[in-house]
Amino acid sequence: MKIALLGKGKTGSKALELISQRDDLEVTIFDSKNTPTKSKLEGHDVVLSFLTGDIFLQYMDEISQSGICVVSGSTGFEWTPERLKLVADSKAAWIHSNNFSLGMNLIKQMINILSKADALFTNSNFSIHEIHHTKKLDAPSGTAKAWQDWLGHDSQMTYERIGDVVGTHELTLETDNEKIFLRHEALDRKIFAEGALWACDQVLRLEPGLHDFSNVALKALSEDKND
Ligand SMILES: NC(=O)c1ccc[n+]([C@@H]2O[C@H](COP(=O)([O-])OP(=O)(O)OC[C@H]3O[C@@H](n4cnc5c(N)ncnc54)[C@H](OP(=O)(O)O)[C@@H]3O)[C@@H](O)[C@H]2O)c1
Repeated sequence: MKIALLGKGKTGSKALELISQRDDLEVTIFDSKNTPTKSKLEGHDVVLSFLTGDIFLQYMDEISQSGICVVSGSTGFEWTPERLKLVADSKAAWIHSNNFSLGMNLIKQMINILSKADALFTNSNFSIHEIHHTKKLDAPSGTAKAWQDWLGHDSQMTYERIGDVVGTHELTLETDNEKIFLRHEALDRKIFAEGALWACDQVLRLEPGLHDFSNVALKALSEDKND
């Protein structure tokens, strides 16, 4: 598989490290000195983006015109109808995730259980706190927003920006007399690179259109169980 890697910064460089350990993968690096255009993307199987969201959006037109499958980890923007049209126009499959950690799929199931707290408690309050490095541009993180969506409840969202913290998310359920914490700590950016490369293998088998990584991963988990 030939991967067009957009961005070789803190996270993209981890993807590059893993790609160079695999004989079945080839890579072209795109950054501010070698920007991605339709013609330069030609011949690749998958575009893998770890550009920041604002820069990714600048290239979305060219990427769409290339008609190549996309795995995007770029964060900090919404999928507006105009952007979804670019995905549809590309006639290729795209996988997006704000958090490619494979462990996040277990978290999604745990949040689903916690979301049922109202059935047991008359008074339950949820809050989500996230911590990231000081260079992160968006806040609260896309992952914190995804947790809120999965929860399906209003929750208080807070964040901190500290040193080089890779990414910590904590959901607290507080009732009158107890507290439950669900905490995920990313220790190394490699976890995002691993999940994103797994998604590169998957995206080639998907129908055209935008796919959410957590749905793709959960489907793979349930298919594996049926084997
Ligand atoms: N989904 C996930 O699992 C996940 C996990 C971690 C991070 N992220 C997200 O991934 C994104 C990147 O994060 P990061 O911390 O790795 O960023 P980063 O270290 O700042 O790296 C950004 C990269 O973008 C390139 N770039 C900047 N301006 C450009 C331009 N005009 N044209 C082309 N390339 C350009 C930079 O290249 P130069 O060196 O040439 O400037 C650099 O390689 C963020 O949105 C972050 O939130 C997602």
